[in-house]
Amino acid sequence: MSTLLPLSAMIPTRLLLLLALLPICLCQSLQGVLIDCGADVGSVINGLEWLPDSGYISAGSSKVIAREDLVQTLFTVRSFPLSNNVFKKFCYEIPVDGTKKYLVRTTYYYGGVNGNTNPPVFDQIVDGTLWRVVNTTEDYLRREASYYEGVFMPTGKNLSVCVAGNTYTDSDPFISALEVVPLWDQLYNSTDFRAHALSLVARHSFGYDGPVFGYPDDQFNRYWQPFGADAFPLSNPQDLAVSGIWNLPPQKVFHTRLSKSLVEPLTLNWPPGPLPGGVNYSIALYFADDHASDSNNSRAMDITINSVPYYRNLIRTPVGLVVFSSQWPLAGITNLTLTPAPGSTAGPLINAGEVYQVIPSGGKTLARDVIAMIDLRNHFHNAPADWSGDPCLPSRYTWTGVTCSYGPRIRILSLNLTSMGLVGLISPRISRLTALSSILLGNNSLSGTIPDLSSLKAVQNLWNHSSVFGELAEPTRSVSLNPTNVLISLEILEQNLILVFVAQLLAEQQSNGSSSAQSKRKRRIGTEVHAGESFADSATMRSSLHQHSPGRKLR
Ligand SMILES: *[C@@H]1O[C@H](CO)[C@@H](O)[C@H](O)[C@H]1NC(C)=O
Ligand SMILES: *[C@@H]1O[C@H](CO)[C@@H](O)[C@H](O)[C@H]1NC(C)=O
Ligand SMILES: *[C@@H]1O[C@H](CO)[C@@H](O)[C@H](O)[C@H]1NC(C)=O
Ligand SMILES: *[C@@H]1O[C@H](CO)[C@@H](O)[C@H](O)[C@H]1NC(C)=O
Ligand SMILES: *[C@@H]1O[C@H](CO)[C@@H](O)[C@H](O)[C@H]1NC(C)=O
Ligand SMILES: *[C@@H]1O[C@H](CO)[C@@H](O)[C@H](O)[C@H]1NC(C)=O
Ligand SMILES: *[C@@H]1O[C@H](CO)[C@@H](O)[C@H](O)[C@H]1NC(C)=O
Ligand SMILES: *[C@@H]1O[C@H](CO)[C@@H](O)[C@H](O)[C@H]1NC(C)=O
Ligand SMILES: *[C@@H]1O[C@H](CO)[C@@H](O)[C@H](O)[C@H]1NC(C)=O
Ligand SMILES: *[C@@H]1O[C@H](CO)[C@@H](O)[C@H](O)[C@H]1NC(C)=O
Repeated sequence: MSTLLPLSAMIPTRLLLLLALLPICLCQSLQGVLIDCGADVGSVINGLEWLPDSGYISAGSSKVIAREDLVQTLFTVRSFPLSNNVFKKFCYEIPVDGTKKYLVRTTYYYGGVNGNTNPPVFDQIVDGTLWRVVNTTEDYLRREASYYEGVFMPTGKNLSVCVAGNTYTDSDPFISALEVVPLWDQLYNSTDFRAHALSLVARHSFGYDGPVFGYPDDQFNRYWQPFGADAFPLSNPQDLAVSGIWNLPPQKVFHTRLSKSLVEPLTLNWPPGPLPGGVNYSIALYFADDHASDSNNSRAMDITINSVPYYRNLIRTPVGLVVFSSQWPLAGITNLTLTPAPGSTAGPLINAGEVYQVIPSGGKTLARDVIAMIDLRNHFHNAPADWSGDPCLPSRYTWTGVTCSYGPRIRILSLNLTSMGLVGLISPRISRLTALSSILLGNNSLSGTIPDLSSLKAVQNLWNHSSVFGELAEPTRSVSLNPTNVLISLEILEQNLILVFVAQLLAEQQSNGSSSAQSKRKRRIGTEVHAGESFADSATMRSSLHQHSPGRKLR
């Protein structure tokens, strides 16, 4: 069916052949952060240090799995209540170097912690990017843990990795372990990580039949799985100088291979399982010969994927090489075929391969708005549990009470924090959210002064054109162009809190000698503000925005 496509559609944008040239240097210790979710103490497993998660997340609760034969990192999970939390995300925030890209691995082992038989199915998100659906059902039936790997470029000083409640199932999202490891610039560098991220589909060491391996064989702790029943372990494996192969595969993958001793094609159904179409894949294939080439094409082979030429006349060498393409369309079952090139006298072979799905980056909310929102969050003692990660992205997972505009610049458009039981202060940085056109803060226990909101042009504009408060606008301005009043004008549309400030304002005006018009208005508002008289003291007003216990509520 692929032949029906115009051939040009199948030609990779970038297809590169790389030779290993540099000497060996395997002196790296693992960088990065390994988090044992739900654990309250750290641990060391196979020489790697795992941290408890409390320093990286505040939402959710820790749960212990009632099984004793589990590795330490699966023993506890952090679980997030789903009730009313559909389309909310809960994020780990990991400080990172924004100039690097990171390998992110999430691990899940359900262990029945929610009481349901089947594991929950939910979304996982990195920064503003919807990474993929987490469905561990099949693995869990086999009593196995599941992991997902991806490569992401952070959009800020923290990388956020979130699990997020969707409507697929009705039990709580959870996570067992999270690893975030910085990668060297040269890894996967044919992908533009400002526009894309990579989500791992398969990573196999061919002809290998041992357990999955990572660190220390792989200096970045990428997990390599065994593939191929007809193992051809090399009788005399030599360590290769992998440092010249851009993606820095572990030497260990060159110790085994799949091959044919006859000069005939080798076909693998790889990556195993059907792949979703309509997306591109990034493919890297690794080869090393155990003989030097005795002529230009005696050990050459052609590579096709589903009968489409992927690379022609690949001449294997003992130093090892990788052939990769950054955007290759695949769909359904994939056949990888290695055919000896005409004139070749050697059978085909392959040592390892990686396939990633190329996913579009979700982008990021304007940094200045994000900083202001974080400051706002930090001034509340009890900000909503889902106020972490990007405030606006992915668009289905905005922070509770936040709406955004999704133009070329992603901005905070309105805040509706009504009745959230918030305690604390309103950060003055709210005035930096210059795209804000509406702020609703009613029925919370906020205290302190109302920040200067004169920078919020949209709010000012609304004030100027408010038909409801047009009449009030003039006297208000003459009192002072105190942005406090602006906040009031918006609030009054929805909330009684504002009425407090209108009352305050009028009280202020009155104390300077009232006009009859103002008195009339005061009466009108006074009837709405049942407790109007208790707010006559404007000094009290200004310093206490705090909320009213139900008994003292205004309306
Ligand atoms: C970054 O992450 C650290 C650790 O989770 C956290 O303490 C800090 O508040 C985060 N910073 C921002 C700006 O979110
Ligand atoms: C999760 O995976 C199982 C097994 O593959 C499948 O039956 C189920 O439909 C999936 N659930 C969702 C919500 O995709
Ligand atoms: C990728 O990394 C290699 C090795 O450092 C370098 O030679 C090459 O120019 C890089 N490619 C891009 C697109 O940055
Ligand atoms: C796949 O890659 C090609 C070439 O870069 C690009 O034109 C096409 O839009 C991509 N397809 C998707 C679904 O991203
Ligand atoms: C290999 O190719 C090069 C140029 O492409 C040629 O000069 C050389 O003679 C060839 N060697 C063999 C052994 O065919
Ligand atoms: C893949 O290979 C199998 C067996 O070699 C063959 O039956 C099947 O048609 C091939 N599929 C594709 C898409 O080439
Ligand atoms: C603000 O939030 C409250 C509580 O969630 C809701 O009742 C109200 O309709 C919202 N107002 C607007 C303008 O969205
Ligand atoms: C005020 O908020 C609380 C929750 O914080 C809610 O229970 C109560 O109903 C709200 N009152 C009004 C009048 O909306
Ligand atoms: C609102 O009205 C005041 C006074 O007339 C004016 O100075 C200000 O520029 C107006 N603001 C906007 C955004 O129109
Ligand atoms: C009322 O008087 C105070 C101080 O005397 C002054 O700052 C304020 O602007 C006056 N308000 C009006 C509405 O004239």
